[in-house]
Amino acid sequence: MKFFIDTANLNDIAEAQALGVLDGVTTNPSLMAKEGIIGGENILAHYQKICDLVDGDVSAEVISTDFEGMVDEGEMLSSLHPQIVVKLPLIADGIKACKYFSDKGIKTNVTLVFSAGQALLAAKAGATYVSPFIGRLDDISTDGLNLIAEIRQIYDNYGFKTQILAASVRHTMHVIDCAKLGSDVMTGGLSSIKGLLKHPLTDIGLAKFLEDYKKGNQ
Ligand code: G3P
Repeated sequence: MKFFIDTANLNDIAEAQALGVLDGVTTNPSLMAKEGIIGGENILAHYQKICDLVDGDVSAEVISTDFEGMVDEGEMLSSLHPQIVVKLPLIADGIKACKYFSDKGIKTNVTLVFSAGQALLAAKAGATYVSPFIGRLDDISTDGLNLIAEIRQIYDNYGFKTQILAASVRHTMHVIDCAKLGSDVMTGGLSSIKGLLKHPLTDIGLAKFLEDYKKGNQ
């Protein structure tokens, strides 16, 4: 299972990268704005900084909603750096643009996916990644994890190569449940990755080992 971090915060990205378990980064316009990154040139420069920090795929989202705009923006984004993956919304023009980029061998991440049918369309269009938003489904009392299970079954039935990128991951149990369901990737905040470290018995056990070592070496 790949771990992506879902942020535009360079400190968080660097911390996850230093842990040695990071496979990539996802961003979106809201995450950029949260870091105060606004304006075309600033956003492009920020993608460059993110690519310099990590080794894996970095999703950069288009803001156009028409096919021609998405193609222009996506081509510009993908020319920025070989690690850039063009992130497209799941609307009709986004699916058309996904097919366009897939045919050209440019990686894509189809985002804002909330149903199995949408995920099937993304796979048919050759998406590299599909991003079902599990947390936002949970927010409206719908089982986000069930969507991961449905997509896994459909993709396995037909051997689709599109990778399931569980997005809108809010906590460690989402990560664990996505892993159990066979999600290829998860993307969440730094806390959803670092939270996996925690267990009180680990802390208690380590304290005891160190105490016993000290006693034995006095
Ligand atoms: O990757 C999608 C993600 O950024 C959405 O997360 O927490 O805003 O639902 P959230």
